[in-house]
Amino acid sequence: MSGRKRRIVAAFSAAAATYNDHAEAQIRAAGLLLERLPPLPMAARVLELGCGTGLLTQRLLELLGPDAELLATDLSPAMIAQARSAMADSRLCFAVVDAEAPALPDSAFDLIVSSLAAQWFANLPATLDRLVGLLKPGGRLLLTTLGADTFAEWRAAHAATGRTAGIAAYPKAAELQAMIVGATVESAPFAIAYADARAFLKGLEAIGAATPRPGHRPLPAGALRRIMAGLGAPCSITWDILILGVTKESQ
Ligand SMILES: C[S@@+](CC[C@H](N)C(=O)[O-])C[C@H]1O[C@@H](n2cnc3c(N)ncnc32)[C@H](O)[C@@H]1O
Repeated sequence: MSGRKRRIVAAFSAAAATYNDHAEAQIRAAGLLLERLPPLPMAARVLELGCGTGLLTQRLLELLGPDAELLATDLSPAMIAQARSAMADSRLCFAVVDAEAPALPDSAFDLIVSSLAAQWFANLPATLDRLVGLLKPGGRLLLTTLGADTFAEWRAAHAATGRTAGIAAYPKAAELQAMIVGATVESAPFAIAYADARAFLKGLEAIGAATPRPGHRPLPAGALRRIMAGLGAPCSITWDILILGVTKESQ
């Protein structure tokens, strides 16, 4: 595992116990995904990647038939432990799996879902290709991820002082769509209000999502204070949610 991936997993593992209390954006993104679920067979085989504490998992179970099977996975063992302790269902199994290198059989799943995990993948196009390989013919991959306008206000507050924020560059909808043949991508941005910049940053930390982009060097304290003041209080922050869907061709 790369050093960066290790840091990403460590941050999420450390946040497993605080995650649910700060997951407003994740709950809304999961809702957007659930609204787009395709019709499924009664005995659907479903794979979830990056399940975290199981916010989507729980709601997905409510929609699956009695003979369905859901394999919920995450790269963080602590997240898997948290999710496992929160729900028990005979249709549900958990496993620690790297979504970028899943040791799972090809053509095995009717549905693969993932909500707000893909922005952490090192190679999203290759991962999407691999995931489509795991689908049965006619099966569907549905995921939400972050788009280019995510945290635009935080980026702008940095730019106003000649600095660049430590958050990653996320794709525009058209760029995400071009990563895998046959995909459609919808954009569904929303804004969340925070008391101030500190509350916004604390919230990211509490969900384990504060790992900076590769190469980012922490700013001097004074520079960070000016940027935080520039954001204003209260502040409204954009979460630019992209929803990607792709169906594997029937043979
Ligand atoms: C923001 S959380 C989203 C969790 C959950 N899907 C939700 O909506 O609440 C991102 C999750 O992705 C997981 N993750 C990050 N990189 C991963 C990878 N390469 N493979 C599997 N899971 C990964 C993290 O451990 C974390 O639990």
